[in-house]
Amino acid sequence: MGAMTHTLVSAWTKARRTLEAAGVELPVFDARLLLEAATGVARLDILTDPHRPIAEDAAARLDALVARRAAREPVAYILGKKAFYAIDFAVGPAVLTPRPDTEMVVEAALAALPVDAPARVLDLGVGSGAILLSILSARPLASGIGVDASPEALVFAESNAAALGLTPRVVMHHGDWGAGVEGPFDLIVSNPPYIPTGDIPGLAPEVSVHEPRLALDGGADGLAAYRRLWPDVARLLKPGGRFCVEIGIGQGPDVSALARAAGLEVEAIKPDLAGIARVVLGRRPPAVAAG
Ligand SMILES: C[S@@+](CC[C@H](N)C(=O)[O-])C[C@H]1O[C@@H](n2cnc3c(N)ncnc32)[C@H](O)[C@@H]1O
Repeated sequence: MGAMTHTLVSAWTKARRTLEAAGVELPVFDARLLLEAATGVARLDILTDPHRPIAEDAAARLDALVARRAAREPVAYILGKKAFYAIDFAVGPAVLTPRPDTEMVVEAALAALPVDAPARVLDLGVGSGAILLSILSARPLASGIGVDASPEALVFAESNAAALGLTPRVVMHHGDWGAGVEGPFDLIVSNPPYIPTGDIPGLAPEVSVHEPRLALDGGADGLAAYRRLWPDVARLLKPGGRFCVEIGIGQGPDVSALARAAGLEVEAIKPDLAGIARVVLGRRPPAVAAG
């Protein structure tokens, strides 16, 4: 007999040890995800039939996936997908992996949009499409525009829209924030890059090495994108229209001040699940009746 025969459990254990040694944060969990991807075996089978042998080609596939993860490539890039708001989004190195915290932006946006009314939604920095497409999935009469400066990101946004059957209700636009976009919109959402440039090298390699710089880098103080965004939000919202914008840790006061300076009303700053102020909510002031 040649190479040692692996079973589901022995392959899982070997993968887990390699990932542990590489400093991966969730080695048991990631090893199982990669085992599922390499073998096509379902989670339940791994648990109920752990001693099932796996074929040599599947074992080789697993080794290759584990090597990528040990080099700290995000597991979502290796699998090519990431669950966000109960939807599987296709992702790859050209787009930020959508984060659970960002689901708060979707929650806040849905609270601002009645289910049974048409609405126009703009997502500035659409990336994979996670925010905009989650909103459109939950609001069948809404339509939207997603803007991104990265053409590679827009390929993901468009294919995610197609996979969800949303292509007829969405336009993905290559551009620089709101430049060239025509309003008015009922709602504008954004999760812009907000990490101060100097903080990026200190982040986990999954982020600092593998995620696109354009999706992370908020300039020297982390606020560069907000300075550009808010005047566009003020111009493109209809009077009384609402915005929900994600912020980084501690940015609430500065980002709110920039919004007010652009003529917008900040109504609330909502915390994420960890209790960190995460989403700035507000509106363009309603038009005052003449006379
Ligand atoms: C933090 S990511 C958010 C992606 C996605 N909306 C999400 O929440 O997962 C920020 C996005 O803004 C885009 N971006 C950066 N600068 C931009 C600009 N000047 N105009 C438009 N989009 C920009 C990046 O390419 C990236 O996709």
